[in-house]
Formats: sequence, C-alpha cells, structure tokens
Amino acid sequence: MPWSNVEDTEYSALEAAEVDRQNTALQLIASENFASPAVMSATGSVFTNKYSEGYPGRRYYGGNSVVDQVESLAIERICALFGAEHANVQPHAGANANMAVYQALLEPGDTVLGLSLDHGGHLTHGSPVNASGKMYNFVGYGLTESDERIDIDQVQQLATEHKPKLIVTGATAYPRSIDARPFREIADSVGALLMFDAAHIAGLIAGGAHPNPVPYCDIVTFTTHKTLRGPRGGCILSTADLAKKIDSAVFPGQQGGPQEHSIAAKAVAFLEAAQPEFATYSAQIVANAQALAKQLSEEGFRLVSGGTDNHLLLVDLRPFDAELDGKVAQIVLDEAGITLNRNSIPDDPRSPFVTSGIRIGTPAVTTQGMTEEHMVTIGQLIARTLRNRDDDAVVAEIREEVRALCVPFAPYP
Ligand SMILES: Cc1ncc(COP(=O)(O)O)c(C=O)c1O
Repeated sequence: MPWSNVEDTEYSALEAAEVDRQNTALQLIASENFASPAVMSATGSVFTNKYSEGYPGRRYYGGNSVVDQVESLAIERICALFGAEHANVQPHAGANANMAVYQALLEPGDTVLGLSLDHGGHLTHGSPVNASGKMYNFVGYGLTESDERIDIDQVQQLATEHKPKLIVTGATAYPRSIDARPFREIADSVGALLMFDAAHIAGLIAGGAHPNPVPYCDIVTFTTHKTLRGPRGGCILSTADLAKKIDSAVFPGQQGGPQEHSIAAKAVAFLEAAQPEFATYSAQIVANAQALAKQLSEEGFRLVSGGTDNHLLLVDLRPFDAELDGKVAQIVLDEAGITLNRNSIPDDPRSPFVTSGIRIGTPAVTTQGMTEEHMVTIGQLIARTLRNRDDDAVVAEIREEVRALCVPFAPYP
C-alpha cells in the first residue's frame, strides 16, 4: 500500500511561514542556530525508520549493520573533537543527558552542587520544579555581588560543608567563560565527581574559542543544536571508567530506541565542527557578542558582569528604563522582528515570568554571515524599538528595516 498522495496544504503553508520567519527576522535566542543543509538532510533521512535499541554491536533488533557504523562514526568524531575517552550520542536532548548522568552516578537523595537557576543555572541543575531537584539534594552556588562572576570561594565553602557526591558546573545564562580547573581542585578536595554542562558553549569549545573542560572533568554533557550547530539532541562525554554506567543509564535507564536520524545528523555536524572554518566561526560568535555588548552599553543598558566572553549577553533593562520589564521587551521586539527571550538577572526583583532582563545570543546571526558592523545596527534597532514601544508605526517601520537587513543574509533562501 503506497503512501497517500494527499496534498497537505495546511502543513506546507506552516513550513513556508517558518522558513520566511527564519529568513526575514533576527534570531537572537542564545540557544538557537541554523543547521546546515547537510545536517538537515541527515535529520530527514531513512535512519528515522530504524529501531536500534542498544549500542553498536549490541542491538536488540536486526538490520542494524549500517546504523552501527553511523553511530560509531558519531562517537569517533566527537571523541576526537573533544579528546574524550568515551561518548554516548543517544540522549534525545540536553535535559535527558543530564538526567542520565545523575542516574548513573547518584542515588536518590544524594547531594549535588550546581549553579542556582536565578544566577544562570539550568532547570536540570536542581530546580525544585524539575526531576533533578525532586530526586536529588541540590545545593545552589551563585555569582559574586561585586563582579557577577561565579563565586568560586562559595563553591569551595559549600563543598566543604555539604560534601557533595557530584559538582555540576556550566550554565544557561552566564556570559563568561568557565574555567573547569578550580572546580576540579574543589571536587578533589571533597572526593566529588565533576560534571561540566557545556550545552551552550560546546561549539565554542569545538572551535577553540573557549577552553576544553574534558581534561578536568569526569563528565561533560552538551546539546548538539546550540553553538555546535547540529541537530536537536544531547551528548555525554566521560572517562572510560564511567562508560558502562553512563551507557546503561541512557539505555535502558532513561530512554528507549535511539533516534538514529538525529545521531546521523550529529555525525555530520561533528565533522563540520572539526573543520578550520568552524574555528573562525566560533571566534566570530564571540567578537559579535562583544560588539553588540558595546553598542548596548552605549544605548544605556547594563550588561550583567559588564560584558561577555562567550556567545551571549544578559542585559539588565532597568538603567535604560526602570518601567520596562523583560516580558514587555520580548513581545515588542518580536513584533519588530527581533526574536530573543526575557531572562532573570541575578537577584531579579521581578518574577521569572516577567523579569528585568533579556538574553541575547549571536550564534545564529553569525552563521548568517553578519559581523561587528551589523551588531552595531542590531544594538541600535533594539534600543529604538524599546524606546518607541508604544508607537505601532515605529515598530512596524523597524520590522521592515529588520527584513531589509536579514534578506541578504537569509540562511535558507
Ligand atoms: C546548560 C543547559 N543544560 C541543559 C539544557 C537542556 O537542553 P534541552 O533543551 O536540549 O533539553 C539547556 C538548554 O537550554 C542548557 O542551557
């Protein structure tokens, strides 16, 4: 029985609308990027049809001789790229990767240190609304008040006091480079394992713009769809001695059949990330973020920690306009074709649904080929939109300027 020939105009229209949105508006969400046609082709490949529970050479179903080679290729490529002893490329997402690590290394109720959500940590770093926070005893460390950098003295003090089994570092909204070495020293001082969640910065590490935490960590997790510019998905790197525990926690511990089409696309993305031009790309992401930070400071915004050394900026809106909150800013900027997200700033007086900040990222616009001069324009457009947020005509005018700026750089023309 062949597939139906029905013409799905409803769906086609939606896909065309999304292509148009991505081609004609500024995508400044720090965790997003534009995957290459090769990555998207692998994501839409025949590997979507295959069941392959288990691991290469140890599957529960037949017909996996090619799938085994694809998954092995992804593993070999990512181990070579990061200098890791072991990789599990099956996690469906970053959250799954983190939960699998916890299941592999911890018993329910065990103590873990992680960066607090309100200082830039991720939900899976022990938020009370997330399974991580419900199952394990997470203790949160934060940023210093003075320079809004990770308070490493507090990490040491909390580690000494609470004797965690695991220390987690890495962040979802932290604009600075994280050095794994002092975390290693602290972990060793209390006999803890160390995990680095590099979800956001994996591409910066692969491209050499940020230091590689792998030599200092027992575990490094990351997503493949952010700065790394691959398909949606997660990955776990570990030392060889933790390999078996990690693999068993991913499957059968947390997941069923792996998504081999995503794993195929991960393999493709890992090769792309190993090319010399990816190093140029990751350096440009940072240069763009710094140029945007400079322009926004000139427009009167305050940057958390005073700037950035990665792909994102956390912007405190209050010095620009005390009445303006993150929620309103996000909505009006979206109307102007400038897509980003509201974000709490450290010790934010407003709720996480409203916030006093916005988070801005440069991975996607850098993929499009935009450089520092375009970041100046983007900074000006953001400020002008927010200054004129009650004037629909000005916002509509800016939407057209954004379209004109984006079209020559359209990722999917
Ligand atoms: C630091 C960090 N870890 C984990 C995740 C979870 O990734 P995913 O959304 O793929 O589950 C994110 C996502 O933003 C993140 O920023």
